[in-house]
Amino acid sequence: MVGEVWVKREDGKFWPSEEMKKKANISDESIYEKSYEDPISFWEKMAGELHWFEKWSKPYEENMPYFKWFIGGKINMSYNCLDRHLDERGDKPAIIWEPEPPHGETRVLTYRELYKEVNKFANVLKSLGVKKGDRVGIYLPMIPEVQIAMLACARIGAVHTVVFSAFSSESLKHRLVDSNAKVLITADGYYRRGKVEDLKSKADKAVEGTEVEHVVVVRRIGSDVNMVEGRDHFWDELMENAEDFCEPEVMESEDPLFILYTSGTTGKPKGIIHETGGYATQAYTTTKFIFDVHDDDIFWCTADIGWVTGHTYACYGPLLNGATLLTYEGAPDYPDPGVWWSIIEKHKVTIFYTAPTAIRMFERLGEEWIDKYDLSSLRILGSVGEPIGEEAWMWFFEKIGGGRCPIVDTWWQTETGGILISSLPGIGPFIPTFAGRPFPGVRMTILNENGEETKPNEEGYLVQKSPFAPGMLRGVFGNPEKYKEEYWSKFEGIYYTSDGAYKDEDGNIRIIGRLDDVMKVAGHRLSTAEVEDAITKHPDVAECAVVPRPDKIKGEVPVAFVILKGDYREGLENEIKDIVRKEIGPTATPAEIYFVDDVPKTRSGKIMRRILKKLLRGEDVGDITTLKNPESVAAIKEKISKTE
Ligand code: WT7
Repeated sequence: MVGEVWVKREDGKFWPSEEMKKKANISDESIYEKSYEDPISFWEKMAGELHWFEKWSKPYEENMPYFKWFIGGKINMSYNCLDRHLDERGDKPAIIWEPEPPHGETRVLTYRELYKEVNKFANVLKSLGVKKGDRVGIYLPMIPEVQIAMLACARIGAVHTVVFSAFSSESLKHRLVDSNAKVLITADGYYRRGKVEDLKSKADKAVEGTEVEHVVVVRRIGSDVNMVEGRDHFWDELMENAEDFCEPEVMESEDPLFILYTSGTTGKPKGIIHETGGYATQAYTTTKFIFDVHDDDIFWCTADIGWVTGHTYACYGPLLNGATLLTYEGAPDYPDPGVWWSIIEKHKVTIFYTAPTAIRMFERLGEEWIDKYDLSSLRILGSVGEPIGEEAWMWFFEKIGGGRCPIVDTWWQTETGGILISSLPGIGPFIPTFAGRPFPGVRMTILNENGEETKPNEEGYLVQKSPFAPGMLRGVFGNPEKYKEEYWSKFEGIYYTSDGAYKDEDGNIRIIGRLDDVMKVAGHRLSTAEVEDAITKHPDVAECAVVPRPDKIKGEVPVAFVILKGDYREGLENEIKDIVRKEIGPTATPAEIYFVDDVPKTRSGKIMRRILKKLLRGEDVGDITTLKNPESVAAIKEKISKTE
């Protein structure tokens, strides 16, 4: 298999080779028509491949903006990821873990070993008083304990809320308070680019004043951490006495599985709720068809578990399929920019799923780091998180895929739980910059302002029509109004994604980008309001506006326009950047700060971020005469041109 050609070129597009068609889990194009016509039967058939303690009585029901899948079905996620595979794949690696060099050795957990760890930790959680429906915070680096903890929650019906380990203690606190978490699982620290990151003291600060009763601490670096008597426990000590078996909780299909916070258009991230049966079905099906997993595949999704991509494709999706997943603890360029490629060579990774920002970074770091390694095991490449330009697409295709592997450019969101638009390896086509057709059984389309379907090549709003994909969000935790307003108010009875897009003549979709005040910084989702809220915490700042500016590697970076209360003084830039790091995390740090006297506003006082965006791109700002303060535009323009 190694080195086989999986793709061929025809009329400027790429198509699966005969080998790929033969191997693929799906290569019959009629799947599209059939499933678009009758999505419910499609998803029922796929759900039937999972294990249900009791089958559903009704597949789908809607009462807008609410909908349910597999009503009455009884299921457990961890049972489907683990118990189901023990007979056939008990000794097959479930997780291959690579530490950041030189701290530790490769760890391999077979399905049976993972099963045992999950069962034990499920019992630990129970012993700490965690019950079905309780929320559990997980604030861990990329170590196998993160998947163990998630699956253990799923086993007992607790709802996990994972928080990205690079987020600040303020960010963690907000999530713990909002979700009312009872237990937090964290680590003493972790290694990042050779430095020791202290996680426990950030966790300590976050937990103060919350409802968290117990903190479980994984010893990753073995540092001397502060342990609060009665509240804090070491993972290994709790595991020592834990029983090997924990009965999986029988869950209703619609019971929540997890809450994951993501940025919206306001200052505070919102808790996206995902349920069990529908999410499992979508995670299972998309992994099976889009990444085409087979028993001999090694699947590496480079996303951190703190993002939805990590949840669905570095944990649940591969495990539901009985696949082997690989995870790596460290940064992509440490100890040197060859580390990812050395891992692909070492473990003969076959499916590699990453983000355009990483691809662009490697493109600039030079090819000698790639040429040193044998990447001929690769079969399928994937991209996610932001639009991938033609140049980066072709580079990824040629350099990493050796011109042999299809690229699946997968579009989805935290809210959609799993991929909704992508080409399929056995069907194609793979067209640079086009994500492809909607996934089977998913009714994605593009509407104009009047709610009518757009013609080919006409830009519009990307939406989803009923019946909604089974893995879609079921709500915003503690905020039903927000759920209605953000997703269901633009077009009646239709899910609005906030993305702009268009279709080609064949129905392949090209994503243009967000149409709201959400930025994608190195693939990470951030709202401009969140960064503005952090900056205005500085006592010298009167007002500010944050907008994204295009960046060659990160895609977008935040730029701040700051109005001071008094005069400018040395050091303010750094103080403001520090506040953003402390309040949110390093990804949100503004790339530039402009100190200005005024920002463009409408007569009613609304900041015109659109104009600031255009100024940063050097574009024509159009008619500004209706602004309250049109003179601010010229002043800002001058400031920007001076720093360029
Ligand atoms: C936003 C969702 C769920 C995956 C990780 C991001 C953008 C996502 C693509 C793609 C162009 C993409 C959209 C979307 N996006 N995938 N293949 N091509 N844009 O999840 O953080 O919830 O962000 O990411 O703008 O709305 P997220």
